[in-house]
Amino acid sequence: MILPTTGQATPSLRNQTMPINFQRPEGAQLRVVNGASPELLSVACNLFADIFPEDKRYLPYLRACAQGNHPSHPNTYDHVWLVQIGEEWAGVRIFSYIKTRSFGHGAYIGFTPRARGQGLGTWLVAETQRQLEEDAQRFGQGSSLGYLVEVERPIDAQTDEERLKDEKRLQFHRQCGGIILPVPFIEPVMIEGVDYISPSELEDESPRPMHLVLVPSELGGSLPNLDLVDFVHGLYYDVYRLPKGHTFVKNALSYLLGGAT
Ligand SMILES: CC(C)(COP(=O)(O)OP(=O)(O)OC[C@H]1O[C@@H](n2cnc3c(N)ncnc32)[C@H](O)[C@@H]1OP(=O)(O)O)[C@@H](O)C(=O)NCCC(=O)NCCS
Repeated sequence: MILPTTGQATPSLRNQTMPINFQRPEGAQLRVVNGASPELLSVACNLFADIFPEDKRYLPYLRACAQGNHPSHPNTYDHVWLVQIGEEWAGVRIFSYIKTRSFGHGAYIGFTPRARGQGLGTWLVAETQRQLEEDAQRFGQGSSLGYLVEVERPIDAQTDEERLKDEKRLQFHRQCGGIILPVPFIEPVMIEGVDYISPSELEDESPRPMHLVLVPSELGGSLPNLDLVDFVHGLYYDVYRLPKGHTFVKNALSYLLGGAT
């Protein structure tokens, strides 16, 4: 399925080439998906739809992220990667560096069923951290603290199957060093005001309570204190572009700030 988005790939992403050491010894390769590679974009969309069938309606988001600097995402520098093993497409990754902060946002990581459980996810997380570190330097933020990810809460699962899936996801992020942040987090349905998905296309979706997990970089994991307010503001204001003082922000910070947002 091809879904239109507006905006152009930035010259920097068009010219991006992969460093040699992106080649993994076992034969897995990272491929950057960008505006210069419509074939790869189409592969990424198909793989995404196979791995995350319940999220197909977010395909325009993937396409927007592949542009790197989509106008509807003014505060993030977005990445879409594919993992290839030999001739086979095995995984897809979507994540962003938040240009106004010193951390990123991990939106999706997924592998085909037969590629799971072989360490590829762990490796891809390490590569993500490496890219975010590079982005932090590029955008003058010094060093990256890691990235935030929103993870379903097993307690909210409606079926045993769903609960098991949620537990596995959470376990994966924890194995990668993830820390559940002690804030009540509600995931908005979509970034505010994007020009590539209309609210009517998402009318069946509702905001969901999620665990907010920080997967820290080496630096992030070594700090004695983490600024939770900065994480909440970065995700809600800079990624989701919620208006100042939004209920979700107030709710997340209520017991930290006593009502101030
Ligand atoms: C979660 C996922 C990305 C992990 O990638 P991976 O390559 O399987 O992960 P690794 O091999 O590096 O690590 C394996 C760990 O991941 C976790 N895991 C989560 N889901 C898993 C699955 N379906 N199969 C195997 N391991 C899974 C387990 O904790 C496992 O640890 P264990 O081997 O000690 O049991 C991958 O399993 C996947 O694509 N799952 C479906 C999509 C998804 O849930 N994505 C995350 C939310 S965006």
